[in-house]
This record gives sequence, C-alpha cells and structure tokens, in this order.
Amino acid sequence: MSARVWQHLLAVRDGKGHLSGGDWSPGEQRAVDLYGPLAQRDVGPRVFGQIGQSLDGRIATESDDARDISGPDGLAHLHRMRALVDGVIVGVKTALHDQPRLTVRLCEGPNPARIVIDPHGRLPNDAPIFRADGARRLVIQALEQDRPEGVEVITLKATEGRLDPDEMLAALNKAGLTTLLIEGGGFTISRFIDAGLLARLHIAIAPVLIGAGQQGITMPYPPDTLAEALRPATTAFSLGSDVVFDCELPGDREQAVTPASL
Ligand SMILES: NC(=O)c1ccc[n+]([C@@H]2O[C@H](COP(=O)([O-])OP(=O)(O)OC[C@H]3O[C@@H](n4cnc5c(N)ncnc54)[C@H](OP(=O)(O)O)[C@@H]3O)[C@@H](O)[C@H]2O)c1
Repeated sequence: MSARVWQHLLAVRDGKGHLSGGDWSPGEQRAVDLYGPLAQRDVGPRVFGQIGQSLDGRIATESDDARDISGPDGLAHLHRMRALVDGVIVGVKTALHDQPRLTVRLCEGPNPARIVIDPHGRLPNDAPIFRADGARRLVIQALEQDRPEGVEVITLKATEGRLDPDEMLAALNKAGLTTLLIEGGGFTISRFIDAGLLARLHIAIAPVLIGAGQQGITMPYPPDTLAEALRPATTAFSLGSDVVFDCELPGDREQAVTPASL
C-alpha cells in the first residue's frame, strides 16, 4: 500500500475525492479495487463483513484461543478497513471474549464508531469497547439497561431473543452511520448475510491449519445442496502473510441494480 494511494482512499472517504480515475501503478490499482468500495460514500448505506480464518475455515481453537490467527498483513488489512468505515460492529460474544478495542493502530486514519450487539445486557460497563476516547460508542440492546455515560443506546424489540438486522441497520443509518463493518463473530456476520444486507465479505485466510475449533461463517439456514449455496463473485488479493477473498454479496446495491443480477 503506497502512501499516496492510501491518502487518496482517505480523501474519498471524507468526500474530498472520487474513486474513478487516478494514475495508479498496477499494485496501487489493486489497492483501489480492494478498499475503494469501503471508502465510497456516494452509493448509499452499505455493510461490509470481515473475518480472519485458518486454511481449514476455523476462527478459534477448541479451547477458544483466537489470538493471532491473522498474520501481520491480515491485521493491517483489518485496520485499514476500520479506518475507512463510519462504524464497526461486533457481537457481544466477541466483545466479551476478545475484549477488542476496535481502534485504528496499524495505519493512518480515524477511529470508527464502535457498536456492540448486546441484546441481553451481558457486556460489563468497563469493557474496552465502552472506553471514552473520542470515538462514538453505541450499544444495541433489547432491554432497558443503563450503560456508561456517553454510550448511545439503541433499544429494539427482540423476537425469540433475536434482533432484526434490517431494524438494526435502519437505526444505525438514522444515527448517521452509513458505511459499516461487521468484524465478527461468525454468528453476527451470518445473520446479516442471511438477511441479504451484506454488500461484501472479506475472508482473510492465514496459512495455518488448526484441525478443530469454531467455524467462521455458520449460516442459520444452510442449503441442503451445493446448487443452492451462495456463490459470490470473488476476487483474491495476496496481502503477503494472508490472502483476502473479496466476495460481492446480494446486499451490494450497485450490483443489485445491474441487469446481470435480475
Ligand atoms: N477470526 C476472526 O476474524 C474473529 C473475529 C471476531 C470474533 N472471533 C471469535 O469468534 C468468537 C465469537 O463469535 P460468535 O460467532 O460465537 O459470537 P458473536 O457473533 O461475537 O456474538 C454473538 C452474540 O451477539 C448477540 N447477537 C448478534 N447478532 C444478534 C442478533 N441478530 N440478534 C440478537 N443477538 C445478536 C447475541 O448475544 P446473546 O448471546 O446475548 O443473545 C449472540 O449470541 C470468539 O471466539 C472470537 O474470538 C474471531
């Protein structure tokens, strides 16, 4: 990633530049292709997902060790994605288990808003996600519960314990957050895929074989046959330590209006 292409992407994110055009080298053009959709703000609200997994599709060992599955380039990729979106979403299990800060530390760029889906109020008030550091902090919940000062609370009705991804998205858009990244875990991302709301999913694969442990994406209603499986248009990008598969999903509004997808 050259400094000039990264500055260009940050400018596009801030509405100070256009994605098209530019005199880029082939490597820089690949960076524009990979990160451009996250930086764009003129195509309406969009949701992205990213998951880092092993060669055999695991995101943690059986004993729940999930640290360092991604290599250094996979981590830098994740931080670039964070820097380009308005907000990052995680499910409460990730917030409890990984204690993520969800800040941008491995590249230049602003910290996104941090959003946790915590329907039953399980996340303690001293969780790192809630730390006051200037970034917006939001929680989506299904009950009345006090949260730390400055944390914006979105309360939605749950049906059989589940919150509707469409309603969560509408509430976040209303709060001014239009480009969102779901960072995990697999449960949370798959609910947005199932609802047809994910525009793109980045699957970052690290060259490690675990052999057992938690699977990444696990759909609530998986297909019976391969013919029914989702087959997104996918481009592979070699990052160095990791390979990213950039998958276009039905939630991509640009794609949804092209005749080919009708
Ligand atoms: N490798 C990676 O890229 C990566 C990234 C993130 C996390 N992880 C790993 O993934 C594991 C956690 O992932 P996970 O899939 O088990 O859990 P998760 O997605 O982090 O959290 C799931 C929980 O979030 C709440 N939730 C999310 N969507 C909801 C919805 N639509 N309606 C209602 N509640 C919703 C529910 O809370 P309740 O249970 O309270 O109902 C649900 O059980 C951890 O081991 C973590 O280390 C890996």
